[in-house]
Amino acid sequence: MRIDIITVVPELLASPFEHSIIKRAKEKGLVEIHLHNLRDYTKTKYRQVDDYQFGGGAGMVLQIEPIDKCISKLKEQRDYDEIIYVTPDAPILTQSTSNKLSLQKNIIILTGHYKGVDQRVRELFITQEISIGDYVLSGGELAAAVLCDSIIRLIPGAIGDETSALTDSFQDGLLAPPVYTRPAEYKGMKVPEILRSGNFPKIEEWRHEQAIKRTKKIRPDLL
Ligand code: ADE
Repeated sequence: MRIDIITVVPELLASPFEHSIIKRAKEKGLVEIHLHNLRDYTKTKYRQVDDYQFGGGAGMVLQIEPIDKCISKLKEQRDYDEIIYVTPDAPILTQSTSNKLSLQKNIIILTGHYKGVDQRVRELFITQEISIGDYVLSGGELAAAVLCDSIIRLIPGAIGDETSALTDSFQDGLLAPPVYTRPAEYKGMKVPEILRSGNFPKIEEWRHEQAIKRTKKIRPDLL
């Protein structure tokens, strides 16, 4: 899989892809991530890529021309399955969206800044818009990092223990059940006996019950 990220602050994305599962997925050749600085696509003085909004109002808007130049150059080089814009005014990211995106070959992620991008960018180039939650970040870079992380860990081979991603929260529409490790007792708090019983069908049953209980309590909207 190849992911191209368009940003005005590439520095913000330098670290998130250099550790742990994503780093290993890159080393295994499962994913390539390419950062593109939008400012490389403008010839204006001070490499400006934003301007005032028509109609007035606070906040600058990213201009269409540098975005057009960057996306068009990428599209000349290969076909893209999705061109995603991360923005708070969009449908919220779900595990099902990440599952689908993890099966794609080439995607572009455009990150916004300030008041966002000129509406014509959205109409002309964007095939999918994604918000990572009902709150506003300073820019789309951290949202892009979250989105990439949620996708890359689902690429077959990215996680060593193949079944691990399948037992994550949301994968079956429920929150994950509680987990424990050694010691079996800590300051009087004991690990539930069933988990130490070796009775795997019963353990699975218990985990499912716990997942339902947790989901009912914390996220009843998921049921
Ligand atoms: N950019 C700023 N806030 C965002 C959010 N919540 N989701 C996606 N992109 C964003």
